[in-house]
Amino acid sequence: MGVATGGALLATSPWLNASARKKGGELSGEKARIGMIGTGSRGQYNLDLLLHIPHAQVVALCDNYEPNLQTAAALVPGAKLYRDYHKLLEDKDIDGVVISTPLNWHAPMVLDAIAAGKNVYCEKAMARTMEQCKAIYDAYRQTDKVVYFCMQRMFDEKYAKGIQMLQNGELGDIVGMRCHWFRNADWRREVPSPELERKINWRLYKESSGGLMTELGCHQLEVCNWVAGKLPVKVQGVGDIVHWKDGREVYDSVNVIYSFSDGVKINYESLISNKFNGMEDQILGTKGTIDLARGIYWLEDDHTQSGIRQLLEQVKDKAFAAVPSAGPSWRPETKTGHIPHSVIQGDIHVNGGQSMIGAANDGSDKIMSAYCRSVITGEKSPNVVEEAYCATILCLLANEAMEGQKIVEFPEEYKIPYMKF
Ligand SMILES: NC(=O)c1ccc[n+]([C@@H]2O[C@H](COP(=O)([O-])OP(=O)(O)OC[C@H]3O[C@@H](n4cnc5c(N)ncnc54)[C@H](O)[C@@H]3O)[C@@H](O)[C@H]2O)c1
Repeated sequence: MGVATGGALLATSPWLNASARKKGGELSGEKARIGMIGTGSRGQYNLDLLLHIPHAQVVALCDNYEPNLQTAAALVPGAKLYRDYHKLLEDKDIDGVVISTPLNWHAPMVLDAIAAGKNVYCEKAMARTMEQCKAIYDAYRQTDKVVYFCMQRMFDEKYAKGIQMLQNGELGDIVGMRCHWFRNADWRREVPSPELERKINWRLYKESSGGLMTELGCHQLEVCNWVAGKLPVKVQGVGDIVHWKDGREVYDSVNVIYSFSDGVKINYESLISNKFNGMEDQILGTKGTIDLARGIYWLEDDHTQSGIRQLLEQVKDKAFAAVPSAGPSWRPETKTGHIPHSVIQGDIHVNGGQSMIGAANDGSDKIMSAYCRSVITGEKSPNVVEEAYCATILCLLANEAMEGQKIVEFPEEYKIPYMKF
């Protein structure tokens, strides 16, 4: 696979505009006046980010579930409170909105916010259906306002540096991608009364959720697109409810294969009843392999040292949380025989995959800060919406393939000029 070149652009995140790369103090004290729509678990995480951004001021909060609204309100005394997001959008004191609501609400809220002349920040995935994604993309192309979708790996240093290595050819030609996300947790939340089941457990039902693909796979597919500089042409897969047979509608186990035009494949797997394998974004090159999620790479011909030498190198590189013992089962030809190298120096922040909210320093703070700066300057960050669109369409195509038990080719009607195949 030939990857897009242009490593110099990646010195910092390639998705940040010139103004967003500057430090916070250069805005002369201006603040983006933000209204938050959705103050549930991720909304409260986003609120915390906003409260730490010097060029942001949270002026209004909206949620139609009173306990979540009041939890957030306690953190922002003086913020106006709304139960109907349309009313928040009429508020002239709000420059931009941050939307953290269930997936089926993204399209109506984003489209209404753009129509109301607000700047918009929303979370991945883009929307529940491909049609809704296209409507958002079209509205984004027509508005002069700023639109962001949070795909935080695009703003994570270890991903940016690792992909720079791939684009510089340091790991050879890319011949495969293996991404997985394993958890052992049911995704179910406690419900105070039965009529709130579908509202609170929206992730489990098809009307409001694309399941593992939109909730987890979306992040990882965005990375694969970024690495490849193009999109797969077709997808096939198998999805089942293997373990959590509790009335949910979305799969708890998916195995998906995406094929690029040159035959390179993304193997995507997610399972939420065993967490042994954790979460990894592995890119396989002819000269080496990189796990972008952990910021570690291994070279193909770097495994010929004695077992004890390998072990010492691995300990030195802090590749293990605990040191494994080298015993009779030590086999240099297995992947543990390869010497791990770190992509970046210093503490590496890894999302262990268990949190439904997000990991510390995973890039979410940077993209939120960039959004607030863009609200003030009006300067857009390049391709953030396009990337979210591409990744979301790929997730929804996988669901179509699994549900229909068929190979799905990328549909012409959802191609946009930004895409390469
Ligand atoms: N980028 C990331 O890493 C990341 C991580 C977690 C969640 N998310 C995204 O954040 C979003 C929210 O997820 P969550 O776990 O916080 O869900 P949640 O259920 O905890 O919170 C959603 C909130 O939206 C409110 N809401 C629903 N419909 C509403 C409406 N019509 N008007 C006003 N409020 C409404 C709910 O009452 C709830 O408080 C999802 O799109 C999810 O995919 C992104």
